[in-house]
Amino acid sequence: MPISSDEFRVALSKFASGVTIVTTKDSEGNLYGMTVSAFCSVSLDPPLVLICVEKTAASHAALGESGVFAVNVLAEDQAHHSNHFALPLEDKFKIIKYFEGSNGIPLIENALVNLECRVVNSHDSGDHTIFIGEVERSNLNDAENPLIYFEGRYRAIGETLL
Ligand SMILES: Cc1cc2nc3c(=O)[nH]c(=O)nc-3n(C[C@H](O)[C@H](O)[C@H](O)COP(=O)(O)O)c2cc1C
Repeated sequence: MPISSDEFRVALSKFASGVTIVTTKDSEGNLYGMTVSAFCSVSLDPPLVLICVEKTAASHAALGESGVFAVNVLAEDQAHHSNHFALPLEDKFKIIKYFEGSNGIPLIENALVNLECRVVNSHDSGDHTIFIGEVERSNLNDAENPLIYFEGRYRAIGETLL
C-alpha cells in the first residue's frame, strides 16, 4: 500500500534541490519552457542527464516531438523565472531574456549553466515520463550561486561546511 500523496509531498520536500527551466521547441517553432526540479546526472560516459516531466504538461508532447531540450540551471537571483515557468501561460518567452542554442532551443540568459541535450531514451513512470538526454553542449555563465528549493520555499545556498 503506497503512502498518500500528501504524505509523499511532505516527505519529498525534505530533499533540497536546485531549480532548472527545461526548454524545447516544437516542429512549428513554438517555444516551451517549464520549471523542473526533478533533474539529475545519470552517466559520465556518455554524458547523460534525466528529467521527469508530468504527462499533462504542455512541454511533454513538445519534448517527445522535438527530441531535443535544454536544461537551464537557475542562479540564486532567478526565483522569478522559476515561478514564471511553473505557470501555464500562453507565451512564456515574451518577457524573458534568452538566446538560441545550436539546435534552436531557447537558452535562458544568466542561468548558472545551460545544457543542450538530445533525447536518447524515455521511460513511462506513473504520471511522469523520464526523459534521458545526452549532453551535447554546455554553456557556463558568470553567475556563481544556485537557486535552492527546500520545503516548498526558494533559498540561497548556506555556508560551506567541509
Ligand atoms: C520549484 C518547482 C519545481 C517543479 N518541478 C517539476 C518537475 O520536476 N517536473 C514536472 O513535471 N513539473 C515540475 N513543476 C511544475 C511545472 O513547472 C508546471 O506544471 C508547469 O506549468 C509546466 O509547464 P507547461 O505546462 O507549460 O509545460 C515544478 C514547479 C515548481 C514551482
